[in-house]
Amino acid sequence: MVKVAVLGAAGGIGQPLSLLLKLNVQITHLSLYDIVNVPGVAADIGHINTPAQVTAHLGPESLNAALTGAEVVVIPAGVPRKPGMTRDDLFKINAGIVRDLANAAAKACPKAFMLIISNPVNSTTPIVAEVFRNHGCFDPRRIFGVTTLDSVRASSFVSEATDGSLKPHEVRLPVIGGHSGATIVPLFSQVKPALPKALSEEALKALTNRVQYGGDEVVKAKGGAGSATLSMAQAGARFVNSIIEASTMKGVIEPGYVHLDADPESHAKAKKLTQDATYFAFDLELSSRGVERIIVPESLSPYETQLTQDAVAELTKSIQKGVEFVKASEDSKL
Ligand code: NAD
Ligand code: LMR
Repeated sequence: MVKVAVLGAAGGIGQPLSLLLKLNVQITHLSLYDIVNVPGVAADIGHINTPAQVTAHLGPESLNAALTGAEVVVIPAGVPRKPGMTRDDLFKINAGIVRDLANAAAKACPKAFMLIISNPVNSTTPIVAEVFRNHGCFDPRRIFGVTTLDSVRASSFVSEATDGSLKPHEVRLPVIGGHSGATIVPLFSQVKPALPKALSEEALKALTNRVQYGGDEVVKAKGGAGSATLSMAQAGARFVNSIIEASTMKGVIEPGYVHLDADPESHAKAKKLTQDATYFAFDLELSSRGVERIIVPESLSPYETQLTQDAVAELTKSIQKGVEFVKASEDSKL
């Protein structure tokens, strides 16, 4: 039995994500929650002839039912960027949405894997973690900021840079740090399979910048109609599928933005990179417990080391902002 709940299921990401999840025959129940339009989405997806039972949950009164028994909760609820905005500009709306959804999840399904897509991921992931901590059910191995899209983009862009001689679906490279501009650090020194020819310094910088600001490319192209939805749906479905696969298989690896207490031994090894940051994206080995091991890259080039240092300064502020938001929410209730 695998129940997956999608919160924000009627949105630009939520709809194609729910569709892709319905194609996973291991999912037995797909629970779709939104504050608008979700009955239509569920009725439509429910006609697809795969095993998952699809249920629709509209509005806050049905949130508890949407979440009860869920093993995996994916959160793409909230507003997307328009041109000229940063992800952090979304904080004032999305922080409260994510906090309230996390609150409901901590009560209804405290052991679920929590996958946070809503931006700014660098802050919304700590928000979910702090809410779970307040409910006494924080497990750093089970709460993930979804950064899969950065790795998906890095694989596509590096393949393009080799004129397709590296196949986009076969290329893998770690993308570490966070999920926003300078906090996104692709490690092109560690591309697998190896690049046929070393990148020039100029090409490397251009490629790095393209991964860091890949989201802006889509926001600009959509001209005010939102940000990445379809590539994000694919990336999000890949992450959910990997979480499910890891419950029965060893060696499943996905990137994710996690609290570094998820693997204290690796955290100690990563200190030079992560410095004061308490959350960081790394490749993660997954198991039925969630994060089994944080994979700390062996050696970075001087350029990558510099990028990582730049990332930490912004990341620590974003993490603090999320943590303080939850604290202030509690205080305001006193
Ligand atoms: P969207 O506006 O198309 O959809 C958002 C959905 O959330 C809507 O259906 C809306 O009704 C719903 N929603 C709003 N408040 C809600 C609440 N309180 N409870 C439940 N549902 C609620 O937006 P989108 O394009 O799907 O993007 C969603 C979020 O994902 C944005 O914050 C965006 O920045 C983020 N995003 C993250 C990544 C990533 O890599 N992590 C990639 C792309 C987009
Ligand atoms: C992305 O990377 O595409 C998302 O974070 C959406 C955005 O705002 O760019």
